Amino acid sequence: MPFDRHFIDQLLNWFNIHSRDLPWRHTYEPYHVWISEIMLQQTQMDRVVFYFTRWLERFPDIATLAFAEEDEVLSCWEGLGYYSRARNLHRTAKLLAEQGNMLPACYESLVKLPGIGPYTAGAIMSIAFNQDFPVVDANIERLFARLFDIATPIKSRENKKLVWQKAAEMLPAGKSRIFNQALMELGALVCLPKKPLCSQCPVIHWCKAHRLDMIHERPVLLPKKKIVFIEMATGILVRGGKILIQKRQTNDVWANLWEFPGGRLKEGETPQQAVVREFLEETGLHVGMTEEITSVRHSYMHYRVILHGFFCDVVAEEEKEPALHAAQENRWVSFSELHRFAFPAGHRKLIDYLRNNSGI
Ligand code: ADE
Repeated sequence: MPFDRHFIDQLLNWFNIHSRDLPWRHTYEPYHVWISEIMLQQTQMDRVVFYFTRWLERFPDIATLAFAEEDEVLSCWEGLGYYSRARNLHRTAKLLAEQGNMLPACYESLVKLPGIGPYTAGAIMSIAFNQDFPVVDANIERLFARLFDIATPIKSRENKKLVWQKAAEMLPAGKSRIFNQALMELGALVCLPKKPLCSQCPVIHWCKAHRLDMIHERPVLLPKKKIVFIEMATGILVRGGKILIQKRQTNDVWANLWEFPGGRLKEGETPQQAVVREFLEETGLHVGMTEEITSVRHSYMHYRVILHGFFCDVVAEEEKEPALHAAQENRWVSFSELHRFAFPAGHRKLIDYLRNNSGI
């Protein structure tokens, strides 16, 4: 059963007039849609437009991405976080390179690819190939919570099932490219989380929460995860004008990213003590501090991190090579080469601080 025709006309007309001019909407090239959808998970639209444009300059198609070095891929992703997304894009591009460099226009094949789940597969099927598949992102979840006045918590399994079912029921055959994007766009531009712009809503007459004066009670949110504060310290070891960087192991959140040795402070430890201990544990080198650089703050997920940075020196003129107790590779690089490697946000902030505030 098609959903109310009039609702669909109103929504699609609104999208025709108000949709944003986004780069992947120019051609709906499947590679573009795929990259944009992966970037849009967890990232704001304006940042995505910047990263997407730069990504396409470096990796204009699947073949170029497949043959790129992983360091180059990660460095192009640096700043977007959740790096498994970039690693999976790279892995999938390599798989697709063996199959003619095309994304399959088949949902079952898409969901088998690394990093492509039901959401991304539905988005590619509908937005790139205009096939009748629903999608539900966070914007649509919020929009539906109001449109249907849903009292179930928005992130609950029960609600997820319900909204996907509703999205499928509403889908007008042959128009899913525009329809799915129109729902997302309405959530992103009008049905805003805190101050929804109901007076500008093209489907206000269908909105149950509006009718019942429940807009501000919807969606129902579960309590937020508690913020966790973390203190970390790291040391920049310079030898013969080169800086020691280490590539992280393949099995952690920042797998294959580069960093200066360091880690979390233990209870009662000063940042200096933590650097000395971490250096010894991770590299086998005994270091002393020569200078405090600065402390930077950054956030990821529900963590709030303070990172203390130091210049350090090897004690007792040890010239031995650092060991690999916590990393997969060591490199000695000049300061000007650091931009070619992907670093976690805190380490990149330290590098930026040094660039702007020291004679390096
Ligand atoms: N969020 C994720 N994909 C989107 C799209 N194609 N348009 C608008 N918002 C989106």
